[in-house]
Amino acid sequence: MALKPRQQRLHHRARRSSLRTRQARSGVRSLLRALRSRDEEVDLQTSVQAWAAAAALAGVLGIHACAGKDEDWRAVVTFPASAVGAEAQVLRDQLERFMLEHPDVRIVRRETPDAADQRHQLYVQWLNARASDPDILQLDVIWTPEFAAAGWILPLDGFGPPVEEYFPATIAANRWDGKLYALPWFVDVGMLYWRTDVFRDAPATLEELSRAAARARDSAGIRYGMVWQGARYEGLVTVFLEYLGAFGGRIMDDDGRIVVDSEAAVRALRFMVDEIYETQNVPRSTLTWQEEQTRFAFQNGQAAFMRNWPYAYPLMQDSAESRVASRFAVAPMPGADGGEPTAALGGSQLAINTNSENPEAAYAVIEYLTRPEQMLERARVVGQYPTRPALYGRPELARALSVAPDQARRIIERAVPRPVTPIYTQLSELLQIRLHRALTDQQPPRAALEAAAEEMRALLDKVGLAPKEPNGAGR
Ligand code: GLC
Repeated sequence: MALKPRQQRLHHRARRSSLRTRQARSGVRSLLRALRSRDEEVDLQTSVQAWAAAAALAGVLGIHACAGKDEDWRAVVTFPASAVGAEAQVLRDQLERFMLEHPDVRIVRRETPDAADQRHQLYVQWLNARASDPDILQLDVIWTPEFAAAGWILPLDGFGPPVEEYFPATIAANRWDGKLYALPWFVDVGMLYWRTDVFRDAPATLEELSRAAARARDSAGIRYGMVWQGARYEGLVTVFLEYLGAFGGRIMDDDGRIVVDSEAAVRALRFMVDEIYETQNVPRSTLTWQEEQTRFAFQNGQAAFMRNWPYAYPLMQDSAESRVASRFAVAPMPGADGGEPTAALGGSQLAINTNSENPEAAYAVIEYLTRPEQMLERARVVGQYPTRPALYGRPELARALSVAPDQARRIIERAVPRPVTPIYTQLSELLQIRLHRALTDQQPPRAALEAAAEEMRALLDKVGLAPKEPNGAGR
């Protein structure tokens, strides 16, 4: 690929700069040791004398004190991460423990927006500007090909990550052009939350779900039958993907052809539209909701069913916050005629900015956060699923998860990925617009999907990523 030599250059540059700063750091350290041994009683590390000496040495070595270091000469690693639910707390704890283990590294967390699309926009601005900060990036599973192809993130193979210890699908999603660009941190799978005080069992089909939701509104006085993420953003595509799979449709086929205007797809979108306007199980307000708004509705006892990711589970079990604690369970999103129960594959990956001043320190942080113990803790506190299959046999995980680990593992292994392409974000945006038009009743489902498919094919053509045969053939 045309980008290869450039990526290699950037990688080497990053490694060279980090080597220079490491040499400088060890030079400064020996100087400090020498000064300290002359006068034990003075804390020379903070004394003016030591700093003058250190600055002089830095000058000799031709580096600037600020090149990825703080005033104590620790490597500074910046890390913008999401903080939905309990994520912020567990991340803070883990990073603090890491810093105790690595006194020469200081991690600076940056808050980022919860919505995947907004975080993407922010990252693109930083990386496009070739900023060296942030060092570590929390990537959605759909972004790795785009960031790798743009040369924005470093290949990780040189660090020797234990790839065979991860779910193969999560590793495959992070490879681009034969190299690994990110390590899977946690897996997300879409699931159905249902009220155990209202229903005896989880529905087996979407039809059954719809009927049960209507009954719950009529007889149990529950305001909403079903809530999902219906705002025009990435979350909507994941919800649609699950209805789509339920009816047997796909967004893109194995040859890279857009097939989102198939009959199955039209049936899926029509079903979603009917849930809003015919059965009225799904409130119109859902069309502006993301994950958290649906969680609030469900935990306030206002919804009989909810589609959401695993993170919502522990939060809603907290009776101080939730009116439905111990009164709900999770199940796979059901299937419909022609398809099968489908969970969208989501989740987060950790990658290193190509322009990072401290790639080794950044990798050390990634290696720490993806260790089995940290994944188990994250599962316990946040409810997020580990990316290491071996953990699914551990009793700690059985205690931590909302479903039996072997069931979770089966759902993960069958979860459906979104198209793996460097222009995923643009394709998704085209689809989001049309899906939302149909759901807001501005365009019939078939016309909306035909328009989306046409626009998506035109984009693939334009960037030279269209499959060889004429688009749409074989449908
Ligand atoms: C979750 C998933 C991610 C998905 C996003 C959509 O964060 O992990 O893959 O794109 O939700 O809102």
